[in-house]
Amino acid sequence: MKRIAIIGTGYVGLVTGTCFAELGNTVVCLDNDLQRIETLQAGRAPFYEPQLLEMIVRNQRAGRLMFSSDVAAGVGDSEIIFIAVGTPLDAGGKTDLSAVRAAAAAIGRALTGPKTVVSKSTVPVETGELIAAIIAENSSQDHRVDVVSNPEFLRQGSAIADFMQPDRVVIGTHSAEAEAVVRDLYRSLGAPIVVTDVRTSEMIKYAANAFLATKISFMNEIANICDRVDVDVKVVGLGIGLDHRIGTQVMNAGIGYGGSCLPKDVQSLEQLAAGRNYDAQLLQAVASTNRRQIEVTLTKVMRALGGDAAGKTVGVLGLAFKPNTDDIREAPAIYLIEKLLAAGAAVRAHDPVAAGAVRARLGDRIVYCEQMYEALHGSDALLLATEWNEYKNLDFAMVRKLMRGNQVIDGRNVFDPELVAAQGLDYVGIGRQKLARGRHQLA
Ligand SMILES: NC(=O)c1ccc[n+]([C@@H]2O[C@H](COP(=O)([O-])OP(=O)(O)OC[C@H]3O[C@@H](n4cnc5c(N)ncnc54)[C@H](O)[C@@H]3O)[C@@H](O)[C@H]2O)c1
Repeated sequence: MKRIAIIGTGYVGLVTGTCFAELGNTVVCLDNDLQRIETLQAGRAPFYEPQLLEMIVRNQRAGRLMFSSDVAAGVGDSEIIFIAVGTPLDAGGKTDLSAVRAAAAAIGRALTGPKTVVSKSTVPVETGELIAAIIAENSSQDHRVDVVSNPEFLRQGSAIADFMQPDRVVIGTHSAEAEAVVRDLYRSLGAPIVVTDVRTSEMIKYAANAFLATKISFMNEIANICDRVDVDVKVVGLGIGLDHRIGTQVMNAGIGYGGSCLPKDVQSLEQLAAGRNYDAQLLQAVASTNRRQIEVTLTKVMRALGGDAAGKTVGVLGLAFKPNTDDIREAPAIYLIEKLLAAGAAVRAHDPVAAGAVRARLGDRIVYCEQMYEALHGSDALLLATEWNEYKNLDFAMVRKLMRGNQVIDGRNVFDPELVAAQGLDYVGIGRQKLARGRHQLA
């Protein structure tokens, strides 16, 4: 069993550290956010992720999982150091590697022996070389340091299961010894392991996210065309997805992708290409199609409000960028709410866990509802923005009674249009047929 330090205790670092502790290793999760470390030391989670808190507390009690802001001590005591800090876009839209640089410098300063340094942050090709150079520059001692790229593919909302049952593990390294060290960490998971060089590994992560984003923008493009020819995009998605070369996953049309990864990773890859004189036109189209999907949805809401939002109320169900998380980074719901407020609408909103994060951003500009049905009270339109399970079986008879108007905009295509219409409500989806004609079998 290994002694592991994780620098950066966010969604990826905390899940990684907790899961490695669960697998029997001794792990210290490090962060320069003192409040975050104190929260974790007190046995509380800094964000919502299903099953995570129970696993943290169990491993903390077993003495295998520690939290500290003393990066130097944590690095000094560990054989393997993961870098899991954020790599957001900076104000100019470029990948901000300052946290990665700071983490590498801290490792260099704390170097007391040989280390395996594993980059889990999503970073542009060549960052592995940058990390190695920064560690060397900051170290006064001459110890062997192997820098490995080991990108993370977990999804927020199912992060523990994704980490523990990965489709594959990617290890990018030039060193057979480092490969053996990292392989050993994942051995008990029994997942296929792809071993490659550092640059290829860094590229795999970007290519994976760019492909997922492309699938989403592709389905949104098809949905927008379906809307114009009265065809149901859900049936189209099934009809093409059952072809194994295409697949049924990540095939839902809707209001677009958000979160801290897909938007930034598509842009980072496009910039990486631009920096090498390649105009990545497909990636640009993926990003612009995604941005346009907000406008497409807004147009549907405005039409449902009779073209004028002033004095109207929209009940918004779902605020997080996806279900099962409280993360609102790049959440389409927030963009839509801001546009609706600017157009003069009042917004009543509900989310099972993300309302606190939204209040910190939007303050009292909207009404936060404890119960989902409260958000529909007196609303002219209902907008489903995040497909939490609890919204999928809404009682539309109740919805009809509570609402002032009768417009239901299903931004995630989860409602059955016929059930909605049966209550005298007007259903608007993203690429859904207006009138169910023909025979559709989705099961
Ligand atoms: N969130 C995801 O679903 C996901 C999935 C796969 C990969 N990734 C990638 O993983 C990386 C981390 O993402 P995240 O969502 O966990 O980020 P996050 O913002 O949730 O967490 C980053 C953490 O790093 C800490 N930090 C920053 N600089 C530090 C420093 N110098 N020393 C110590 N701590 C420092 C921050 O305080 C924060 O707690 C990113 O590169 C991201 O693209 C994220």
